[in-house]
Amino acid sequence: MVKLYQADVEIIENKHLTPVHKLLAFNSKQIAAHPIPGKFITIDLGQFFRRPFCIAGVNGTKIDILYRIIGPGTEYLSKLKKGDKINVFGPLGTGYSPLAKDVLPVFVSGGTGIASLRYLAQTLNKPGLLFYGAKTKKEIVGLELFKKKKWKIILSTDDGSLGSKCNACDLFNRYLSTYKLNNLSSVVFACGPKPMMKGISAKAKEKGMKCYVSLEEKMACGVGACRGCVVKVTNLKSPAFQEKAGSRLMMQDGQIKNQSINNIEFDYKACCKDGPVFDSAELLWD
Ligand SMILES: Cc1cc2nc3c(=O)[nH]c(=O)nc-3n(C[C@H](O)[C@H](O)[C@H](O)COP(=O)(O)OP(=O)(O)OC[C@H]3O[C@@H](n4cnc5c(N)ncnc54)[C@H](O)[C@@H]3O)c2cc1C
Ligand code: FES
Repeated sequence: MVKLYQADVEIIENKHLTPVHKLLAFNSKQIAAHPIPGKFITIDLGQFFRRPFCIAGVNGTKIDILYRIIGPGTEYLSKLKKGDKINVFGPLGTGYSPLAKDVLPVFVSGGTGIASLRYLAQTLNKPGLLFYGAKTKKEIVGLELFKKKKWKIILSTDDGSLGSKCNACDLFNRYLSTYKLNNLSSVVFACGPKPMMKGISAKAKEKGMKCYVSLEEKMACGVGACRGCVVKVTNLKSPAFQEKAGSRLMMQDGQIKNQSINNIEFDYKACCKDGPVFDSAELLWD
């Protein structure tokens, strides 16, 4: 079991990568000791709840966070300088599953979703295929590592200022057959806005491809205690679920009802503890 660590750490870098993105770095031996891509930390940014951020890279004991300035918390973070301290907590959640030797990693990133995939790419010993969609050319971020590791990068922007004029989901759908991506040759890893991940999951399901998504639900505690970040899942194959499924009943309006949607048994999982990375086949998107 990974030991959670909370401490004030000193910022060693907080630099702009684009007008709306920054790369923040700090040293933490404890967080670096569990180098699993897909895990995240929370940072106290002077708001009521701590804010979650993926680990975007680890070099020695240096931890990278790649973030978009979007609201009061990240605005506050963006103003901090080298030498300032932040309180970090982690590493939290479950990360990406290891990749089998003979398959091509296919990443689909929408916007700041690149942060989580950047660290995964760093740990893989072979290049893959990256589909990356952003609003505009100026918001394409975090590609240096992919270029250095010789990934094939296919870009799109909403305004057509770079790459195809479409979103990451349409880009992925468009190039599936070009790159002969199928269930035997490739595994998909996606991170970005929910509609994008829903679309990618549907396409992967249609093609029988294994697909992992990293969800970004709003979080409070970050450790599975408040249930504020739950997502609906099905897991018909799990023996534990099968055992529960027959007997699980719940009270609703004074009546006892089975927990089911269209006869599909479902359950809830905490995005922060059981995720944020999920096998897309177990998610019920609604
Ligand atoms: C597991 C996880 C990992 C994350 N990793 C990163 C990362 O690596 N880099 C990064 O830039 N961001 C990441 N995020 C999102 C980040 O946590 C939010 O952008 C941040 O909390 C915003 O805080 P704020 O106070 O600046 O803005 P808020 O005032 O909290 O939000 C500003 C706006 O953004 C929306 N918003 C806030 N959080 C989310 C969210 N999780 N999903 C969708 N919309 C949201 C709000 O609805 C609001 O409209 C991650 C979120 C999760 C759950
Ligand atoms: S944020 Fe509290 S359970 Fe996930």
